[in-house]
Parts: sequence; structure tokens; C-alpha cells
Amino acid sequence: MAIGAFKIIFFLLLSCYTLTIVTAQDETGFVGSIDPKLFRRRQNVSHFRFYWHDVVSGDNATAIEIIPPLPKFNTTNFGEVKVIDNALTSGPQLSSKLVGRAQGIYSYTSQTELNFLMIMNFALFEGKYNGSTITILGRNDAYEKVREMPVIGGSGLFRFAKGYAELTTYFLNTTTGDATSEYNIYVSHYV
Ligand SMILES: *[C@@H]1O[C@H](CO)[C@@H](O)[C@H](O)[C@H]1NC(C)=O
Ligand SMILES: *[C@@H]1O[C@H](CO)[C@@H](O)[C@H](O)[C@H]1NC(C)=O
Ligand SMILES: *[C@@H]1O[C@H](CO)[C@@H](O)[C@H](O)[C@H]1NC(C)=O
Ligand SMILES: *[C@@H]1O[C@H](CO)[C@@H](O)[C@H](O)[C@H]1NC(C)=O
Ligand SMILES: *[C@@H]1O[C@H](CO)[C@@H](O)[C@H](O)[C@H]1NC(C)=O
Repeated sequence: MAIGAFKIIFFLLLSCYTLTIVTAQDETGFVGSIDPKLFRRRQNVSHFRFYWHDVVSGDNATAIEIIPPLPKFNTTNFGEVKVIDNALTSGPQLSSKLVGRAQGIYSYTSQTELNFLMIMNFALFEGKYNGSTITILGRNDAYEKVREMPVIGGSGLFRFAKGYAELTTYFLNTTTGDATSEYNIYVSHYV
């Protein structure tokens, strides 16, 4: 009974979805253009500063290994993958005001050094930015004092965004591996 009802709802959802697409195709084919005025608006370059908390230890870890390193690369952890839901705060302490979360994955991508491929959405909670995201994808070389990664886009207020992030390590506990990085993000977006 419940499964039957579920199937019917699923079918209805599926047909609505199909109908929506067909209607759009009937009117415009599969591509149309958008009023260019929408993209003649001003663009601002905003500078955001966040503290990014990579908590890898303890009960409240927010960076969790999902794929272990390859045993052969036990100094660089090559092959390891972590999934993260790291707090972004306005001040350097984890207890500072929470302004967003960095959600994504990073992996250890050098066989000979310690560096990472970072793939993250910065989901923001504050004020007009609440619900908007900034997407960062780049190489993070742990031995560089300042690392730079591209901002490759975003959603909400950050549609068509581009820019870059610079990060420095603010704090590292060498016993636990917990770390806090300061992210300065320069992002050009429509206003
Ligand atoms: C984890 O978070 C809970 C709730 O905030 C807190 O009571 C607890 O002390 C935290 N544990 C650790 C190891 O930080
Ligand atoms: C690390 O890997 C090397 C070979 O790459 C091996 O000789 C060594 O025993 C390993 N060390 C540990 C702690 O597993
Ligand atoms: C952000 O938006 C969510 C959902 O719309 C809402 O529940 C939350 O209170 C908002 N947060 C702030 C800080 O405005
Ligand atoms: C690092 O973490 C350990 C274990 O939680 C703690 O005892 C130590 O005080 C921490 N060190 C720093 C510099 O915070
Ligand atoms: C865009 O930049 C201008 C000049 O810096 C500033 O006055 C304005 O508030 C900014 N607009 C938004 C929406 O951030």
C-alpha cells in the first residue's frame, strides 16, 4: 500500500518534470538568450575574510577521512581523501561568530610532498549572503606560507563569480592535526 502510493507520487513527480522540460522546449527549443541588461549591471570585487577550522580529531571532528592513504606513501598520505563540513568564523577562534561552512572534499595529491586538491563550497549564512555559495577548486601546497586557489564560481549573489582565495595557516596543533587557516577571498560578482 505505502509502496504503491510512493510509486504513484514518484510517477506524478516524474511526469511533471518531463512536462516542464517539454513546455520549455516547445516555446524556445533547447536554448534561448537572457536579457543582456541583466549582465550589464555593476560588478564589485568583494574581499571576504574567514577562519576555516579543520577539526580532524575528537568527537566533533568536521574533517573526516573517507579513503585512507596508500600504504606505500606513508609520509605524504598520497591517495587519502577527507570529506569536510568545516566551520567558517569571522574571528580566529572556533567559538567566534559562525558565518558559514566549508563543505567539500580534499585529497592528498602529491607522492613526494604534502599538498592537496581542495574542492569546496563556502556556504554563507550571514545577512544578504545567507544561502549563497562560493566555489573554490585548487591546489593547496602545505609548504607555502601563502597559498592561492581559484574561485571558480558560485550561486545566489555569486552567480558568474570569479576570483581567488589566499590562505595562510593561523594555527596548527601538531599533536592532533587540528588546524585553522585564514582565508582571504577576492571575488568579483554582480551587485
Ligand atoms: C563536542 O560538542 C559538544 C556539544 O557542543 C560539547 O559538549 C563537547 O564538549 C564537544 N567535544 C569535544 C571533544 O570538543
Ligand atoms: C612506509 O613506507 C615505506 C616504503 O615506502 C616502508 O619502508 C616503511 O616501513 C613504511 N613505514 C610505516 C610506518 O609504515
Ligand atoms: C538563513 O536562512 C535560513 C533559511 O532561509 C534561515 O533559517 C536562517 O535563520 C538564516 N540565517 C540568518 C543568520 O539570517
Ligand atoms: C593540541 O592538542 C592536544 C590534545 O587535545 C592538547 O593537549 C594540546 O594542548 C594542544 N596544543 C595546542 C598548542 O593547542
Ligand atoms: C559595491 O562597491 C561600492 C564601492 O566600493 C560600494 O559602495 C557598494 O556598497 C558595493 N555594493 C555592494 C552591493 O556590495
